[in-house]
Amino acid sequence: MDVVYCLAIESSCDETSMSIIKNGSVEIETVVFTQIDIHKRFGGVVPEIASRSHIECITIVLDELLTKANMKIDDIDIIGVTYGPGLIGSLLIGVQAAKTIALITKKPLIPVHHIAGHIYANNLESRLEFPLIALVVSGGHTSLVYMDSDYSFEEIGSTLDDAVGEAYDKVAKILGLDYPGGPLIDKLSYEGEDSYDLPYPMDDDSYNFSFSGLKSAVVNLVHNEKQRGNEIRVNDVCASFQNRVVSVIVKKTMRALKEYKVRNLVMAGGVAANSGLRKSLEDLCEKEGIRFLVPRMRYCTDNAAMIGAAAYYAYKKGIKADLELNALAVDSLFKYKS
Ligand code: KG4
Ligand code: ZN
Repeated sequence: MDVVYCLAIESSCDETSMSIIKNGSVEIETVVFTQIDIHKRFGGVVPEIASRSHIECITIVLDELLTKANMKIDDIDIIGVTYGPGLIGSLLIGVQAAKTIALITKKPLIPVHHIAGHIYANNLESRLEFPLIALVVSGGHTSLVYMDSDYSFEEIGSTLDDAVGEAYDKVAKILGLDYPGGPLIDKLSYEGEDSYDLPYPMDDDSYNFSFSGLKSAVVNLVHNEKQRGNEIRVNDVCASFQNRVVSVIVKKTMRALKEYKVRNLVMAGGVAANSGLRKSLEDLCEKEGIRFLVPRMRYCTDNAAMIGAAAYYAYKKGIKADLELNALAVDSLFKYKS
């Protein structure tokens, strides 16, 4: 089969998304229904509400996708779906939809790890070159991953506590900012100054990360200033927090490239939308002659296009599921190794 059209489904958190991707690299069409406005008033994603919303809109998203792409379900060659990790109730809706379509069309069903999807979002920009280091920064993950070939993942470091996006969202909440807080902290940091004496996150010889100390320092700062009746300079807290986070992530990533003698860096996950992180890595990679890929903004946060890109390479590696496929709230990416 020269041309492989993948129908991809992503429903691991609060986005119901479907996409048609050709040969793992060309986006034909994508539809994303985001529930952000539904969860905003709760200050975070409410799992039960998320899964109900997925049920309500999944067939509408499929109809809209096929109409926009001007394709029929029979034009599809493979079906890729996020089976995990994520919110179990949300994942189940996407997995059930994918299994139903696979049953009807008799086309191969490809289970895709959500983080593999984030990494392969870069393949929609430009073909991945190996070996590479992937910096995965999202609401649920913070890892440095080594890849020597397609769909082969080796973890070289990860977070010991909060994921970086989680730390952003929690700090935003303490500061009274809306959900999701990451983009807001990023924006406000440019309107403030790094003038608060916050501690740097763990900066040891490993490739692991720890953000909970920094997060607790912000909690204490806000609490103490409130008790003293002092005004909190929100923009300055954002600038100080973002600088600390970016500095340690950039430092460890650049060290990993050097130590593993790798000339390709890709960034993945929702926090890859962070302008401070993008700018710092872009500048340093240019200086060091490293090929740096980062997805455009709409491929950074959850979407099915990235799942369709990853599904193609999983399919080429012979990864397939049958109708017994189940959703997994937790699952390791690192079982996929060449
Ligand atoms: O990858 P993603 O859409 O969902 C997960 O798989 O976790 O990432 C969502 C996370 C949220 O924590 C959000 O606050 C964060 O990505 N995020 C950002 C930015 N845009 C999204 N964090 C920092 N700066 C941003 N510009
Ligand atoms: Zn994600």
